[in-house]
Amino acid sequence: MLHFPVLLEESIGFLVDNKSGSFLDCTFGRGGHSNSILNNISENGKLTAFDKDPDAVQYANDSINDSRFKIIHKSFNEIDSIFQEKSLDGILFDLGTCSTHFDDKSRGFSFRDDGPLDMRFNFNTGDPLSEWINKASEKELIDVLYKYGQEKNARSIAKAICAFRQESEIKTTSQLVSIIVSVSSKKFSKIHPATKSFQAFRIFINNELEELEEALEKSKQLIKIGGKIVVISFHSLEDSIVKNSFKTKIKAFPREIPINPIVTKEFDCIARKIRPSNIEINRNKRSRSAIMRVFKKLP
Ligand SMILES: C[S@@+](CC[C@H](N)C(=O)[O-])C[C@H]1O[C@@H](n2cnc3c(N)ncnc32)[C@H](O)[C@@H]1O
Repeated sequence: MLHFPVLLEESIGFLVDNKSGSFLDCTFGRGGHSNSILNNISENGKLTAFDKDPDAVQYANDSINDSRFKIIHKSFNEIDSIFQEKSLDGILFDLGTCSTHFDDKSRGFSFRDDGPLDMRFNFNTGDPLSEWINKASEKELIDVLYKYGQEKNARSIAKAICAFRQESEIKTTSQLVSIIVSVSSKKFSKIHPATKSFQAFRIFINNELEELEEALEKSKQLIKIGGKIVVISFHSLEDSIVKNSFKTKIKAFPREIPINPIVTKEFDCIARKIRPSNIEINRNKRSRSAIMRVFKKLP
């Protein structure tokens, strides 16, 4: 299946003001947003893209031949290794997974297909999920399921994982799915019982929320005055990190007028909670949970 870029026109509409500016796409994926940025900037404009996933980087190298474009195989929390302070006109984050991650069974992202239990965006470094899940304590499993999946059934799932491990190692996605299903309530639910656990384990194994927090802090330093940071999130954990990161900072409470705090406003939120239209959701189900926020750097 192709990856359909989410909120494409809306995000690029906000991002590209200065057509000869310098832009950063932190999450190249299959290049939906990057290609649109290239189509909207002039011959003097520049675009750098990051992706942690070697397959995405390969795809960029194979599919884009444009002297204005460069792809970097690094996590977006390392963007400061490439850019100077206040050098970018626009920075885009389109978080999470691509549809192509679920199509490739060997990546272990999908609970619908059997594959090795991996789930790493960058399969060249770190350990696959199977390494960790076979060693983690019951408490660690519960914490991950609660914190990153808000899974109400965390205790039973963690217990069942530990019981299964007494007999054999968990190596595949279908083994993990059957463990989760065995302890899930039989009551009708619209979502598959493994949805939240798979989300939790993916976020954990890729260190997603910590890297996002770090990348947003760095983006604030790298963006020019008047430049924009556009973030598309897919669940409430991501969205609250984005929202909190840009909360107006209260610098001090002056003694003489204690009810009037000195507020430092570095960014204006120029668009909050932008969601895909019904037409987009009908065309691409994955877009239904997307939320976009746009922040503009103030002088
Ligand atoms: C939703 S997809 C982006 C899709 C892209 N906008 C498009 O239209 O084709 C998210 C991408 O971000 C990448 N990614 C996730 N976490 C990352 C990180 N910390 N650093 C860099 N890339 C990351 C994933 O590998 C995936 O390719």
